[in-house]
This record gives sequence, C-alpha cells and structure tokens, in this order.
Amino acid sequence: MKVDSKELLLDAKKRGYAIPAPDYIDLDSARAYVEVAEERGLPVILSYAQKHVDIMSLEEAALVGNFLAEKASVPVVLHLDHGFDKDFIFKAIDLGFSAAMIDASEASFEDNVKITKEVVDYAHKYNVPVEAELGHVGANDLSEARALTDSVYTEAKDVVRFVEATGVDSLAVSIGTAHGVYSGTPEINFDRLEEINQATDIPLVLHGGSSSGDENLKKCAQKGVAKINVYTDFIVAAYEAIQKEKPEGYVELKKTADQGMRAVLDHYYDVFETERYKEGK
Ligand code: 13P
Repeated sequence: MKVDSKELLLDAKKRGYAIPAPDYIDLDSARAYVEVAEERGLPVILSYAQKHVDIMSLEEAALVGNFLAEKASVPVVLHLDHGFDKDFIFKAIDLGFSAAMIDASEASFEDNVKITKEVVDYAHKYNVPVEAELGHVGANDLSEARALTDSVYTEAKDVVRFVEATGVDSLAVSIGTAHGVYSGTPEINFDRLEEINQATDIPLVLHGGSSSGDENLKKCAQKGVAKINVYTDFIVAAYEAIQKEKPEGYVELKKTADQGMRAVLDHYYDVFETERYKEGK
C-alpha cells in the first residue's frame, strides 16, 4: 500500500534501524525493489530522482511508482529524491508522490531555509512529509550526480535553527559519505552524527549509501539515521551480473540485471536491520 514516510521514519529512528531508499530508473528496477520488499515483508522507500528525468520522465515515474505502491502488500513510500526546483516538486506531489526531498544544499543557509520552507508549506497541505539537506553530500568520480562537488559537513549548531525555521520532517546530513563509488571505504564522523542526533528529534537521512561499508551503515542506522539512500550499488550490481553470467538475448539480460539489483536490496535490509520494523507491529 502507498504510505507517506512520517510514521515509518519515526519508528525507524526510535528502534534503531533504517529503511532503504533505492532509486528506480525504470519499471524493471522499481518492480524488483517492491518484489524484494514484499518477499521480506518490509517497507521500502521507492525513490525517483529529478536528475534521472532524461531516463524516465516525472509523469512516467509517477505512473510506475503509483501503480506498484498501491498494489503492494507492504508499505511503499513513493518518494521524490533530490528535487532541485519547487515547480518540479509541486508537480510530483500533484502526481501522487507521498514524500519529497528539496535539495537546496548548495545554497546559503538563509536561501536553503527559504526554499525549504516554501516546499514544506505546499507539501504539508497534502500531508506529504519533506526531507531537506543541510551541509552538502558531495559526489565522487563514478557518480551520476549533476556535477562533481565537495562535501560540506553538517554543523550540529545549524540543525536546530534549520528545523525550527522550516518545519521539515527529516534531514539529510553530511557526515562523510558521497554519491557514487569510493576508491576505499569512507570515514564516517560518528561523533558528528551523535551531536546532530542529540540536537534534533526528527529522523536523519544518509545519502551516498553505496560502497560505504556495511559496518558504517549499520552503525549509522543504530544512531538515528532512519533512511539510507542507495543508487550506484544497484546499477553496478546489475551490470556486473550481466558481465559474469553473459545472458543470451535481451529478455534474459533484463532478468539477470533484475537479479543483480534484488540481491543488493536483500543485503541492505540485513545491514540496516530493517527487520526491527516488525517488532512494532
Ligand atoms: P549512491 O549512488 O552513492 O548510493 O547515492 C545515492 C543517493 O544518495 C541518492 O539520493
């Protein structure tokens, strides 16, 4: 069933687990994620990123996402990931997205507050929770992000002011991860995470989950990160499966890619200890 993210994220934060937020770029990836969620009996945050608009339009993403979310036997949040402009986000909400992110993390603190507040005011009229980003999660060479950027760590002292001024429901923080694949394993600043977590009651979000190290991600989930975004690991796994198994024919190739992606989500459910969701049921 399609749900919004509010209660799910609060429960995850309370119980010390995280819900995976995989980005879908077509029907196949979206279907693979929802099927794994159903097999595991766990919620999933089915995410569509504005930057993928050239692969799949917002309208196409809404059709696919609404269809799969509504017929699913488990809670599915239809989430707009990295919305960069208000009109795009408002349109996504009008098309049925049940959660949205405004990413104004490259703007000044004041402008980030102003833009985020405008999105919150619109979204809350439709009971759509909003995620914003404070500090900036940068991008590695192998990222498909819009541009390579350096990370700027989130300052705990800014978090309270930001949350109060915007009324945002969850917050993406920058504590050492980056979008894309790393040459090694990133160093996560857990002290900073703890400081931020103590400064606010709202659930925290970690972007750039791919290849961040399972122990790192598990620890983040235990320390207030309720949602972890993963994208690159899925497309890398799909491509590696194709190279390894050398499927014959296009239909077999698609199936092989799906299997590669499914295994990644299954793995991250274990790493994020999402099974704890069931303790609250
Ligand atoms: P990765 O591609 O590094 O997993 O980042 C995904 C992400 O943060 C999407 O918002």
